[in-house]
Amino acid sequence: MVCFRLAPVPGSGLLLLCLVLGAVSSYALELNLTDSENATCLYAKWQMNFTIRYETTDKHNKTVTISDLGPATYSGSSCGDDQNGPKIAVQFGSGFSWIVNFTEEKSFYSIDSISFSYNTNDNTTFPDAKEKGVFTVSDHVAFRVPLNDIFRCNSLLTLGKNDVVQHYWDVHVQAFVQNGTVSTKEFLCDKDKTLTTVLPIVPTTVPSPTTTPSPKEKPEVGSYSVVNSNGTCLLATMGLQLNITHDKVASVININPNTTNFTGSCHPQTALLRLSSSSIKYLDFVFAVKNENRFYLKEVNVSMYLVNGSVFSIANNNLSYWDAPLGSSYMCNKEQTVSVSGAFQINTFDLRVQPFNVMEGKYSTAQECSLDDDTILIPIIVGAGLSGLIIVIVIAYLIGRRKSYAGYQTL
Ligand SMILES: *[C@@H]1O[C@H](CO)[C@@H](O)[C@H](O)[C@H]1NC(C)=O
Ligand SMILES: *[C@@H]1O[C@H](CO)[C@@H](O)[C@H](O)[C@H]1NC(C)=O
Ligand SMILES: *[C@@H]1O[C@H](CO)[C@@H](O)[C@H](O)[C@H]1NC(C)=O
Ligand SMILES: *[C@@H]1O[C@H](CO)[C@@H](O)[C@H](O)[C@H]1NC(C)=O
Ligand SMILES: *[C@@H]1O[C@H](CO)[C@@H](O)[C@H](O)[C@H]1NC(C)=O
Ligand SMILES: *[C@@H]1O[C@H](CO)[C@@H](O)[C@H](O)[C@H]1NC(C)=O
Ligand SMILES: *[C@@H]1O[C@H](CO)[C@@H](O)[C@H](O)[C@H]1NC(C)=O
Ligand SMILES: *[C@@H]1O[C@H](CO)[C@@H](O)[C@H](O)[C@H]1NC(C)=O
Ligand SMILES: *[C@@H]1O[C@H](CO)[C@@H](O)[C@H](O)[C@H]1NC(C)=O
Repeated sequence: MVCFRLAPVPGSGLLLLCLVLGAVSSYALELNLTDSENATCLYAKWQMNFTIRYETTDKHNKTVTISDLGPATYSGSSCGDDQNGPKIAVQFGSGFSWIVNFTEEKSFYSIDSISFSYNTNDNTTFPDAKEKGVFTVSDHVAFRVPLNDIFRCNSLLTLGKNDVVQHYWDVHVQAFVQNGTVSTKEFLCDKDKTLTTVLPIVPTTVPSPTTTPSPKEKPEVGSYSVVNSNGTCLLATMGLQLNITHDKVASVININPNTTNFTGSCHPQTALLRLSSSSIKYLDFVFAVKNENRFYLKEVNVSMYLVNGSVFSIANNNLSYWDAPLGSSYMCNKEQTVSVSGAFQINTFDLRVQPFNVMEGKYSTAQECSLDDDTILIPIIVGAGLSGLIIVIVIAYLIGRRKSYAGYQTL
């Protein structure tokens, strides 16, 4: 293990950098950044290699592979300060530079961008390069990881195409380390999830004739709002349960409001509420005004990460749910289903929404869904009672008639 002590950087105190060189075929890079209190603030361990294509003076394309990185330095790595987020900067070989930066938002941090530079002036690595100079490729990766979780990806991740292909594997990284302790709670990349079958989406067993599926717990109710320059313009309170049917297997997931981000926008004729989380890229609820005096849920647009790493997306902009007069809110305490497509349904619980005309950040009077309205049950019960009575009378009559008819026959 090689450790570097860097000179104190103003504002960030002493940085201690350690590099562990992997023993066998390939090099694992490892970095443990500490803050002024000697507490770990960023930890990373990973492996990478690169394939670079360049044009030669005789107009051919040549490909070089950079897999043995050799000794690396980490100047410029930092845990960040008020102005800049944390970043890992690695220098190796003859003028290679690799930088990844991180951002933090609410209960998540993101592995934001990876930038890789190489210098074709190095004739040993890039013989006969037509264009000499430093080339840089940047990729926005945007892996979102819950704060206090360590991101893990043992599987091979491939970035970039064309001239530079980057491979990463055995990746462990945690930025914004809390209290100097690297987390033991791993947040897996989608490819690793498939390997270990730790599913973000829990498939419920397909109902077989002998078993009834256990009813899933009710989702927790979340409160969401959208604010614009005039203050709160959209309010929504609801428990949400997503039901995705894939290959005849229904996956039911409850949205956890604690780990769900929300945003949106308000316009005179439309309003948007967008939810997102580590497994939901976006879940959009689009509201619209109709006949100038009512609002309704017009569109749902969703994109989610599936277990096997692929993305499930579906949109329907021809819906008609949650209809209520403008200036009021729509309320439905009973479970309701918004059917976006045959493969995607949203079950809502304890729902209340007001996408327009929100005054002082509070809900206006509610229009309740018919399911909540118990009075509708009374005519049904009375009706059912009456028809029951009629049936009894008819049967009694028929039996009576048959009896007397049979009586005549025996005579
Ligand atoms: C950090 O650790 C070094 C030794 O590794 C020690 O000399 C220094 O005093 C420590 N600093 C603080 C603030 O604890
Ligand atoms: C070399 O690569 C470039 C793209 O980087 C491509 O446009 C060009 O056709 C390639 N030339 C040859 C000879 O393959
Ligand atoms: C880069 O590493 C991956 C994973 O170990 C390996 O499959 C691939 O062949 C390597 N590429 C090169 C060019 O060495
Ligand atoms: C991260 O780096 C990329 C370029 O590599 C840059 O565009 C982006 O603004 C940086 N993000 C932060 C938060 O510094
Ligand atoms: C960090 O320490 C503070 C105070 O000791 C504690 O409240 C908090 O829960 C700790 N956070 C973690 C992630 O351990
Ligand atoms: C999920 O959707 C499937 C197919 O539409 C349906 O059979 C199942 O009852 C739904 N489950 C829940 C909990 O809504
Ligand atoms: C959400 O947070 C609240 C308060 O911190 C807690 O009581 C609740 O159990 C959490 N819910 C979930 C689903 O994690
Ligand atoms: C993931 O699974 C879905 C359905 O099971 C399938 O359509 C899709 O092709 C799979 N994606 C990958 C990358 O395997
Ligand atoms: C759904 O959202 C995506 C991404 O924002 C967008 O490209 C697409 O047009 C939307 N679909 C509909 C039907 O609005």
